[in-house]
Amino acid sequence: MAIHGDPFGARSLVKEQITSAVAAAAIENFREEVLAGLSKSPRQLPCKFFYDERGAQLFQQICDLPEYYITRTEIEILRLHGADMAKALGPQIELIGLGTGAGTKARILLEELRDPLVYVPIDISKEQLEKSSARFREMFPGLQILPVCADYLEPFELPLPRRLSSRSVIYFPGSTIGNFEPEAASEFLARLVELAGDGGGLLIGVDLQKDRHVLERAYNDSAGVTAQFNKNLLARINRELGADFNLNRWRHHAIYNSTEGRIEIYLISDNEQAVHIGAREFQFRAGEEVLTEYSYKHTVPGFIELARDAGFQFVQVWTDDARWFGVFYFTVP
Ligand code: TRP
Repeated sequence: MAIHGDPFGARSLVKEQITSAVAAAAIENFREEVLAGLSKSPRQLPCKFFYDERGAQLFQQICDLPEYYITRTEIEILRLHGADMAKALGPQIELIGLGTGAGTKARILLEELRDPLVYVPIDISKEQLEKSSARFREMFPGLQILPVCADYLEPFELPLPRRLSSRSVIYFPGSTIGNFEPEAASEFLARLVELAGDGGGLLIGVDLQKDRHVLERAYNDSAGVTAQFNKNLLARINRELGADFNLNRWRHHAIYNSTEGRIEIYLISDNEQAVHIGAREFQFRAGEEVLTEYSYKHTVPGFIELARDAGFQFVQVWTDDARWFGVFYFTVP
């Protein structure tokens, strides 16, 4: 009866049901990954879940911290060499932004590009994606913007652009590639070769190896924002999965492992405690570490080799004077 009397109401009801089914599936996936990570030894939590609305806000604050040189340095390189990058990437391209968040860097790049045709931002944070797409539509009226809300670690479909570009260039800033272990980085880069396609390109920001004190300060800031960001993952698990982590009983800690060339980020249980997630109980020892993220730091030749093994051809790298950070450009031969 409702269908005859109120077809649009019925349709929007179906739409609502689909939306809530998608949300329920996302929470199920979150639950599975959290339970699997905490069941490992040593225990881990999957870092891609840092970026809920609060997490995305806190990460924005991290990017502005005096100790967190990464964002500032990458932006400085873009400002200094953006015109040069635009020349290398060429005119009338389709730019595919991976995890571009608020879009600060993509915007600088797009302003330098010659007549870019399509911009496809892909991000896991729906709030950020909607906000930044709306802003980009105002800033670049001639550009077709096709946002995709997806976890780029999983397979996803690219939208079909209305306009035929000269090439697809993937833009992957923020040294997020550093959050992959070497083998996973190599597999992921191989997927990007496929995504960019023949003649396509990859512009990627990579944090470089440097003095350990600079690195450790960047991940243990004096204002404690990074600690809040790390602990927000526990708050999210509490809220979305009905868990009972007591945030006061966990400490943030980040340390540089120079042998592996990576920052290791942990949450440390400050005493013996039990935590419940739904029907599951986890026992933590005093001082027990839960790994939340690795952040690998590469060398220029090391990263070129990693990308080459995945199928990319090295074109150029731009760095700051101190060589703290590199923006690499590769193409698919
Ligand atoms: N991709 C960022 C990085 O490796 C993420 C990050 C910065 C981060 N600070 C953090 C992740 C602290 C966890 C905890 O630099």
